[in-house]
Amino acid sequence: MKKLLVTGGAGFIGANFVHYWMAKYPADKVVVLDALTYAGNMANLDSVKDEGNFTFVHGNICDQALVEALLIEQGIDTLVHFAAESHVDRSITGPDAFIETNIMGTYSLLKAAKKVWLDGKSILEGHRFHHVSTDEVYGTLLATDPAFTEDTAYAPNSPYSASKAASDHLVRAYHHTYGLNVTTSNCSNNYGPFHFPEKLIPLVVTNILHNKALPIYGDGQQIRDWLYVEDHAYGIDLVLQNGRVGENYNIGGDNEWANIDIVKTISKLVEQEFIKNKALATRFPNAKAAIEQNTESLITYVKDRPGHDRRYAIDATKTNNELGYQPKESFETGIAKTVAWYLDNESWWQSVMDGSYQNWIAEQYSST
Ligand code: NAD
Ligand code: TYD
Repeated sequence: MKKLLVTGGAGFIGANFVHYWMAKYPADKVVVLDALTYAGNMANLDSVKDEGNFTFVHGNICDQALVEALLIEQGIDTLVHFAAESHVDRSITGPDAFIETNIMGTYSLLKAAKKVWLDGKSILEGHRFHHVSTDEVYGTLLATDPAFTEDTAYAPNSPYSASKAASDHLVRAYHHTYGLNVTTSNCSNNYGPFHFPEKLIPLVVTNILHNKALPIYGDGQQIRDWLYVEDHAYGIDLVLQNGRVGENYNIGGDNEWANIDIVKTISKLVEQEFIKNKALATRFPNAKAAIEQNTESLITYVKDRPGHDRRYAIDATKTNNELGYQPKESFETGIAKTVAWYLDNESWWQSVMDGSYQNWIAEQYSST
């Protein structure tokens, strides 16, 4: 039986991981530590919040004393670290929060873990610090380059990816210098339920429903390697169970798509849902108008993101061979489930797109 501290468990991937873990390992104890920034939402944990083996703590990972107290009082043996500022566009307009949470926050967790698990009267054998990172630390690829492996040199290009790269290096150093049992996973772009609608896929679905423009940065030919979020949780599970301490594992879906093609695919899927389910036209009268005129007409090419990485692609051979990892969801089924989830959960996305988010978006558009 494991006792997990999940940082950032009220965010997109963290919440999906908590759902996955509690369903698969019902005897384990799960404590979520989350600061509930704009990206964190208690509604993401609604279905587990009343379980006896679940505890939510509202707090900041930079608060080392709080983290130490949680590790001791809750008897934590496994820390799974998702908490981060995660949106590249925000890192360009305001990098400070990324340095603070992604670098200083990870450092604070490492100090707390070392103090409690290694520096006490006895070492906690079998402890694990798992750090959730991204493929963006490897930089960008040309169309013909081979995909990123775990040996690809780090070359982060945005303040977001640079802050994640720095945190990866700190995690590595705490293993090599102090013997902390760490693992790191570097995953490609995720999609699925509870994805905050500032990221491409949920933004496109919700903008269609509001009959708003679908902004395509630059020429729309940038490529991302998309993975259904539950398959990310499954990959982390395998790393926690059988991954070698001190190692990095790439997790990806072998599923590269140009942005413009993703947007067109989603447009078609939403149109098909409106044909299948006539009630949608009543629920979303604005979208109905757009869909009748062809949703793709909402596509609007806008100024490119500064420093925009052209292509990401993950080579997950090591994780496949060593841990037997294979994604379970195909892109076809995953994206259909995701679109259906957004159509069924309007109250969720309406509520997370509150004033602060709308203000941020308004600022972006007024400055371009
Ligand atoms: P998210 O922005 O949806 O959620 C982040 C969560 O962290 C939120 O609940 C937020 O409240 C919390 N948080 C932020 N700052 C905090 C702080 N100082 N203290 C405590 N909690 C804090 O992010 P996500 O998309 O779920 O990403 C989770 C992790 O996965 C991140 O580390 C990210 O770098 C990594 N990752 C994301 C993707 C992706 O496609 N989204 C891909 C690969 C890796
Ligand atoms: P995003 O979901 O922000 O993830 P990341 O930047 O971490 O890959 O963006 C995915 C891709 O979609 C990226 O190439 C930027 C592009 N994009 C747009 O073209 N328009 C948008 O409105 C957004 C949010 C993203």
